[in-house]
Amino acid sequence: AATARYRIAVIAGDGIGQEVVPAAIECLDVVAERHDIVFDWHQLDWGSDYYRSHGRMMPVDGLDRLAEHDAIFLGAVGVPDIPDVETLWGLLIPIRRRFEQYVNLRPVRSLPGVSSPLAGTEPVDIVIVRENNEGEYSEVGGRLYRGTEDEVAIQESIFTKRGITRVARYAARLAADRRAAGHAGRLTSATKSNGIVHTMPFWDEVVRGVLAGFPDVTTDSELIDALAASLVLRPHRYDVIVASNLFGDILSDLAGAITGSIGCAPSANLNPDGRHPSMFEPVHGSAPDIAGQGIANPIGQIWSGALMLDALGHPDAATDLVAAFEAALAGGARTRDIGGSASTAEVAAAVRAHLETTA
Ligand code: NAI
Ligand code: MG
Repeated sequence: AATARYRIAVIAGDGIGQEVVPAAIECLDVVAERHDIVFDWHQLDWGSDYYRSHGRMMPVDGLDRLAEHDAIFLGAVGVPDIPDVETLWGLLIPIRRRFEQYVNLRPVRSLPGVSSPLAGTEPVDIVIVRENNEGEYSEVGGRLYRGTEDEVAIQESIFTKRGITRVARYAARLAADRRAAGHAGRLTSATKSNGIVHTMPFWDEVVRGVLAGFPDVTTDSELIDALAASLVLRPHRYDVIVASNLFGDILSDLAGAITGSIGCAPSANLNPDGRHPSMFEPVHGSAPDIAGQGIANPIGQIWSGALMLDALGHPDAATDLVAAFEAALAGGARTRDIGGSASTAEVAAAVRAHLETTA
């Protein structure tokens, strides 16, 4: 087969992003070579240092420059001395929205050698499909009468039929594909239609309408509060969960914590239509408490790289990379957050070694 070549925009960003991104790129280059793939990595120095010198997180034409790439590989942004609203709304959210990355895919799985904080948990293998463009995270609203006793804050949620339909359809297709691959193929929709009386019944109706077209997928709808409790008590019962922007954000941190460390959790911000680049980033942030020490867990970033390979149409390469980091973890290459003593570089070296020794 001809060599596949991709232009990847790299935003390592802040804190441990500067450590885990290079570690993951080393591993991706090895797996790429073995699958006749070439990555052209374009390093962009955007983030908080850029903000300090330019007053913005990325250049004015930043989004246009990103648009020329096949994918975006991001570490994390955020530092203690700049308000998170600047870092989030100055970089991450504009990328997700401009490129219609309406699916935030967050796989959550038990990993070898990584123990759950919950006693007696059966192996977990869940994919959370979070709506990534609308919902509760909207700019609509405002503050009135600031600084007085009459101060008011209003924050509107935006739910559109188009937005709900496309994320529900993606989740249903994923559940059907997983069913074909031997998983339960069950789809759970997170709702709160008993308390949030306009948007959530609408969510339920639109999701139900989409799922009617997927008779092979077992579906149910659970109230977010009960679902949160149930995820702690019976996480192995879940397969694919589809949720609004806010509910999906919270559930994926919860589910990630159940399986071990946030340091292992990956995510993909997908534009499933392929008209725009998708973005791949770990779930964790810049971890200022451990930045600069060389001890950050690179697994979340490496696994995000596997999601990128998958999305670019190289599922075999993705599978090899996942198998390699699972073997590395099983063999004891574990950072401190998951009970080991390995450095970031040692974990990356172990993953590379597994990639180089397997056929
Ligand atoms: P965080 O995920 O950076 O850290 C939470 C805790 O988990 C810390 O104790 C940290 O040491 C640990 N941790 C996280 N990733 C780890 C890894 N790979 N290896 C080992 N330990 C790890 O979340 P926090 O502290 O709430 O946020 C710090 C900054 O990151 C903030 O400015 C926040 O806004 C930003 N942030 C950025 C995100 C992004 O870029 N997508 C996502 C989440 C937070
Ligand atoms: Mg979050």
